[in-house]
Amino acid sequence: MTRGGPGSTSALPAPGPDAEAHGRRVDAALHARLEVAGGWLPFADYMRCALYEPGLGYYSAGAAKFGPAGDFVTAPEISGLFAEVFAGQFAAVLAGLGGGSVLELGPGTGRFAATALAAWPAHGPLPDEYLLLEVSGDLRERQQRQVAVAAGAAAPRARWLEALPPRFAGVVFANEVLDALPCERFVLRAGEPWRLGVGACGAGFAWSERRPDGSHAGDQAFVEATRELPLAGLPDGYRGEFHPGLAAWIRALADGLQRGVVMLVDYGLPRSHYYHPQREAGTLRCHYRHLAHDDPFSYPGLTDITAWVDFTAVAEAAVAAGLDVAGFTTQAAFLLGAGIDARFAAAHEAAASEAARVRLAHGARQLLLPGEMGEAIKVMVLARDCEVPLPGLLIQDLRDSL
Ligand SMILES: C[S@@+](CC[C@H](N)C(=O)[O-])C[C@H]1O[C@@H](n2cnc3c(N)ncnc32)[C@H](O)[C@@H]1O
Repeated sequence: MTRGGPGSTSALPAPGPDAEAHGRRVDAALHARLEVAGGWLPFADYMRCALYEPGLGYYSAGAAKFGPAGDFVTAPEISGLFAEVFAGQFAAVLAGLGGGSVLELGPGTGRFAATALAAWPAHGPLPDEYLLLEVSGDLRERQQRQVAVAAGAAAPRARWLEALPPRFAGVVFANEVLDALPCERFVLRAGEPWRLGVGACGAGFAWSERRPDGSHAGDQAFVEATRELPLAGLPDGYRGEFHPGLAAWIRALADGLQRGVVMLVDYGLPRSHYYHPQREAGTLRCHYRHLAHDDPFSYPGLTDITAWVDFTAVAEAAVAAGLDVAGFTTQAAFLLGAGIDARFAAAHEAAASEAARVRLAHGARQLLLPGEMGEAIKVMVLARDCEVPLPGLLIQDLRDSL
């Protein structure tokens, strides 16, 4: 199950005894947090704890997460074509800049980094360094093992960081990281956005809505953020999300970027489609054992929680931070422009068996088809002092939709 798919109505399978015990510890941490907060938590605080609380959160503890034994798959796990094609675009940027490094944010299992590094020599000289920044200690260890085993002779270029570098030139890359940032939720009541947060419900949790009347921390910021959103005309009870940490996240990247590009790949839409009557339940999705649903209170700590990205907000934050929006397109258009067809043909020719050819074709379909990842996932390229024309941006330019 990919992370942007429609929800499922199937019953969720019960976790095994270890996972269940872990889930109880996460529940206890969340209840303790709720108590300290006076019985009501902003959804972003709940999501941050459920995903990133050290030693407990979904991304911070040892769950499998990615791949068949986990809860979902992402593009680099589906097909090596994804990272191989992106590596060609990274190499083109670095050639235009006359050198530089790659900085990958949220590298997951490390499969993208390992595949891109292994494929790189076909595209040009290696990057000075391939830097990886991960908030989860558990994932960082997996990334180190994966790169050591699968990146080939380029593996020594990889280096893990604890924080963003203060100065950087080259390519910053993040696949499905923005949709994992904690989001706030709202519900429309008589045309006014109310805060949709979390309250206790017996041993579990439930949605709890309240008018932002200034009595809770963050009410003022919530009112200011939602004032900017195009919510007029949306029906009563409409639910939606926004990412309160997004602008600061982009600014932190922009502050360190001396020259080069930021490539953001994620499930998302321009704002006019993001807040739309067709999406009256919002874009929040949870993933558990390859089932997608919309209940973040089911197995917290054992479940991935995501919300699609408002790419207009990304573009606004980037421009405010002094970056240019150099491109915005679908994943399918980007990969086709960047030559996935030639890469596919070469890999097909070289495949050792019919089974490998079938797997290759299946992966390419998942990356490209509109009903799979091809259109739901977008690629946004932000640039500073970097004019390199990227083939991935030549087929389709969606910047007018932002
Ligand atoms: C859905 S996974 C995507 C992983 C990988 N990029 C892929 O495509 O398979 C989200 C990743 O972002 C990481 N992450 C979340 N917030 C982050 C942040 N502020 N900075 C860096 N990484 C972050 C998570 O720990 C996880 O590795």
